[in-house]
Amino acid sequence: MSDSWWRQAVVYQIYPRSFADANGDGIGDLRGITSRVEHLRDLGVDAVWLSPFYPSALADGGYDVDDYRDVDPKLGTLADFDEMQAALHAAGIKLIVDIVPNHSSNRHEWFRAALAAGPGSPERERYVFRRGGGPNGEEPPSDWVGYFGGPTWEPVGDGDWYLHLFAPEQPDFNWANDEVRADFLRTLRFWSDRGVDGFRVDVATALVKDMSLPLPTQAELDAEDVVPGTHRLHDRDELSEVYAEWRAVFDSYDPPRMAVAEAWVPADRIKRYTSPDSLGQAFNFDLLQAQWDAAAFRAIIEEHRRLDLASGSSSTWVLSNHDVIRHRSRYGLPPGTDETAWLRSGGQDPAPDLERGLRRARAATLLLLALPGSTYLYQGEELGLPEVADIPVGARQDPVWAISGGDVKGRDGCRVPLPWEATGPSFGFGAGPAHLPQPGWFAGLAVATQSDDEESTLSFYREAIRARRRLQTAESVEITDSAGDDGDTVLQFARPNGWTSITNFGTEAVELPAGRVVISSGPVEDGKLPGETTVWLVAAEG
Ligand code: NOJ
Ligand code: CA
Repeated sequence: MSDSWWRQAVVYQIYPRSFADANGDGIGDLRGITSRVEHLRDLGVDAVWLSPFYPSALADGGYDVDDYRDVDPKLGTLADFDEMQAALHAAGIKLIVDIVPNHSSNRHEWFRAALAAGPGSPERERYVFRRGGGPNGEEPPSDWVGYFGGPTWEPVGDGDWYLHLFAPEQPDFNWANDEVRADFLRTLRFWSDRGVDGFRVDVATALVKDMSLPLPTQAELDAEDVVPGTHRLHDRDELSEVYAEWRAVFDSYDPPRMAVAEAWVPADRIKRYTSPDSLGQAFNFDLLQAQWDAAAFRAIIEEHRRLDLASGSSSTWVLSNHDVIRHRSRYGLPPGTDETAWLRSGGQDPAPDLERGLRRARAATLLLLALPGSTYLYQGEELGLPEVADIPVGARQDPVWAISGGDVKGRDGCRVPLPWEATGPSFGFGAGPAHLPQPGWFAGLAVATQSDDEESTLSFYREAIRARRRLQTAESVEITDSAGDDGDTVLQFARPNGWTSITNFGTEAVELPAGRVVISSGPVEDGKLPGETTVWLVAAEG
């Protein structure tokens, strides 16, 4: 097993439009990132995952890409990119860029050419066009429902419809087309040549589709008990050929470029993405979806250790990203809360217990950082930011909001620009108001507010990441708690060097075993571990 850097890295996700705004137009930009590299260095992260920064009309926050080999002028230039990358590298931080291969935007030059060229043209072959049903093609080719809700087919006025699994502004590519495949290899080389260290692969499971006629109905798609690897739209076996080609490109560099797949697939399918001849690593969203429960956490950790050993990969642990409700808020809500309904209520019903949410969030983070594998942090979680659940209707940007007719509020609440200072028009994010409104209470959570406070969540993250770096060993862990009395509420595991992490998921304090406390997510006193707290121990003399 190799000791490649990404196997046990702490990776910090930057959602560029909401990180730091250098030119004061309200939108975060690349020079903003460059100006804040010191924050990342102080935090101690190993790498940055940068969400899309390519030219885009922002129909889906940049996941609608107009041009894969350029920088959005709203965010800067290729020279700004080079400068940002150099600053990160100089600080010892690697750079992973987001690649969006399932769909382009409807403003991509190929899509414009496809519309202009008409039915049956080679230009339309790069996307998924089908004739409409009904006498004049006025019916969609199928009744499929997309990931954002709403139909997956859009008519173009000449009897053809195009497929979009996401927003209408995101036409799906046809991965049976050689030009599409070749163009993505060119894009991977373009960024690898520029010096990026890896790629995060958006919707890695959807590229290859079986679009042969007749198309099934949505009910048939849902009901079909298909043989794994043969679903019409998802996780098809042929994807391995695509990623083997990508792997050859990655491995032609020294050091090889890494890749991490966004792949929501069952455990027995994940190795198709994580094996060394494929992308190499995939996101593991299981803890992100788990309830605050020792047994649930334990089962997930054990399963992923087994999967890693089988595939030769290493896990990716994650609690928050730009697509989900921030985990401080999630952990403050009663189990079973309907999150869509909660957002609809503006975050009021039920009111989250944010004290408890933060206590659990810190405990979960410390647990994650002790696990073998890489930990993905999402910008702002180091400040303990909760979800901004009451963004005014007029400010909403997530396409889900419009597609659902204003029913589903969507993901804007975790994408609010970061507070850097306690004052100023956008709390130090930029010189003017931010593109999504920030609440007044951001002042108390700003980087400047927390930076010199030893008790703050920011200081806690810094200390924890430093301690992890000191203690880190080979990727091995043993779950050392018994399934007995404490087994329901306490999860304890250790690395071979004795570095032990203990989390008390319950509310009553429990006895701590012997050892020296390295760090804890909350106060530890009198040899007892309070509820909703994690502690790291080493041997007393260690
Ligand atoms: C997954 C991304 O994380 C999400 O933000 C985006 O909307 C979809 N893929 C479509 O690209
Ligand atoms: Ca800007």
